[in-house]
Amino acid sequence: MKRILIIGASGQIGSELTPAFRKIYGNENVIASDCIFPLKPELSECGPTAKIDATKKEDIAAVVKQYNIDTIFNLAAILSAKAEANPMLGWNIGIGSLLNCLEVAREYKTAIFTPSSIGAFGPETPQDGTPQDTIQRPKTIYGVTKVTGELLSDYYFKRFGVDARSVRFPGIISNVTLPGGGTTDYAVEIYYAAVKEGKFTCPLREGTLMDMMYMPDAIKAIVDLMEADPSKLIHRNSFNVTAMSFAPETIAAEIKKHIPTFTMDYNVDPLKQGIADSWPNYMDDSAARQEWNWKPSYDLESMTVDMLKVLKERYNK
Ligand code: SER
Repeated sequence: MKRILIIGASGQIGSELTPAFRKIYGNENVIASDCIFPLKPELSECGPTAKIDATKKEDIAAVVKQYNIDTIFNLAAILSAKAEANPMLGWNIGIGSLLNCLEVAREYKTAIFTPSSIGAFGPETPQDGTPQDTIQRPKTIYGVTKVTGELLSDYYFKRFGVDARSVRFPGIISNVTLPGGGTTDYAVEIYYAAVKEGKFTCPLREGTLMDMMYMPDAIKAIVDLMEADPSKLIHRNSFNVTAMSFAPETIAAEIKKHIPTFTMDYNVDPLKQGIADSWPNYMDDSAARQEWNWKPSYDLESMTVDMLKVLKERYNK
């Protein structure tokens, strides 16, 4: 990777991937774009930016040509619960931008990364130790776009030789940009609520297990996969990756170790609960570990220490 385009740079992943890439590959080699949310000054002032509507192929092609881009990061997506409120929008953003990026990647011979998700699985999938290759019949439009994205990306690789790679991310926990509209968002919101208010109302039932990952590991997964030797990759779209799996009461207990007065109650959101129940309890990510040495650094304990430290400093608590 030498010249990188990030589509969706203002989102939860993009807002941290962009500065991380600029550090590794040089400010001038990472072009940030987002057509939904304006770029924060941290992103727009220290490197090139571009105006791209990802549903317009010519917008993407023009920037790829202008900057001689070799790798596209296609991060445009509407998360699971939000997409259920407007399925057509979920499909148009998720698949419209992906197809355009794949076509541009084919024409201009660039590599492409598009995140998939635990949302690519459904209720018929084995939920414990979810295998790399298994049943994928998601029941959300978000999941439908993710499975479609996996299939299209593999198709473009096999049919046209496009270097398309992807991971199935679990819930990503971060302290820079809030995710917004996802089923796993509670695991981010709980930290903010714990620091600011000392209490949290959880939208998911006790016992609801899902895979999670701290943002530094998510960035590491992206870099490691995209820098991996392609001859070692048996799979491509998309690799299971996880760092931890927990239920609401477990993350609450971990926070309580640091904020003893913290309390949590429940007010279950039926939409989110239904989605969470259809996703894996924990995935088997051994294919990623074997094919490109995936290894996360953070577990629930170390992530909680870091999240609370950052948020307490930010909110003077
Ligand atoms: N974090 C996403 C969501 O909850 C799943 O990948 O929608």
